[in-house]
Amino acid sequence: MAQMQDALAMIYLWLKAGHILFVIFWMAGLFMLPRFFVYHHEDGAPGSDSDKVWIHREQRLLKIILMPSMIAVWVLGLTLAWTTGAFAQGWFHFKLLLVLALSGYHGWMASYAKKLVRGERSLEGRKLRILNEVPGLVAVLVVILAVVRPF
Ligand code: HEM
Repeated sequence: MAQMQDALAMIYLWLKAGHILFVIFWMAGLFMLPRFFVYHHEDGAPGSDSDKVWIHREQRLLKIILMPSMIAVWVLGLTLAWTTGAFAQGWFHFKLLLVLALSGYHGWMASYAKKLVRGERSLEGRKLRILNEVPGLVAVLVVILAVVRPF
């Protein structure tokens, strides 16, 4: 029985370590993508050689880092919530709301990357720079909620 409990405690710690690692990868990608868009806009007109290079970089970032990391964060996070009973706790409800918004932001940025593939540039540099601050602000709130658990 004690061995079983030790094994479960170990699994929980591995899940949490995995969750935090993929959060780091996801956030790194979310910080990079709008910054890529700013450089992309400044670096050449649609259809130019540099336009194609930036499109390639953005698509790779989305496919290799952003999408797999977001899925891993959700799978590991929901597994943690299920094993710890977090669904019944106030801090987790608020965190869930924020991470849903962050996932929406991710989707919006991915759809903007698709627009760039089609040669459309509807956001200007200043707006992209402001948007770039969103993941950082959400991360501050989410980490405080997950670690301090004020309610
Ligand atoms: C996307 C959906 C997410 C879900 C479902 C989720 C769920 C959870 C749950 C249930 C825990 C508590 C584990 C425990 O009781 O020990 C946890 C821990 C944690 N989460 Fe998330 N999470 C998500 C996304 C994020 C994001 C985006 C961040 C940071 C920006 C984050 C940062 C953390 C941290 C730092 C901890 C460790 C807290 C501690 O043990 O002190 N999570 N997460």
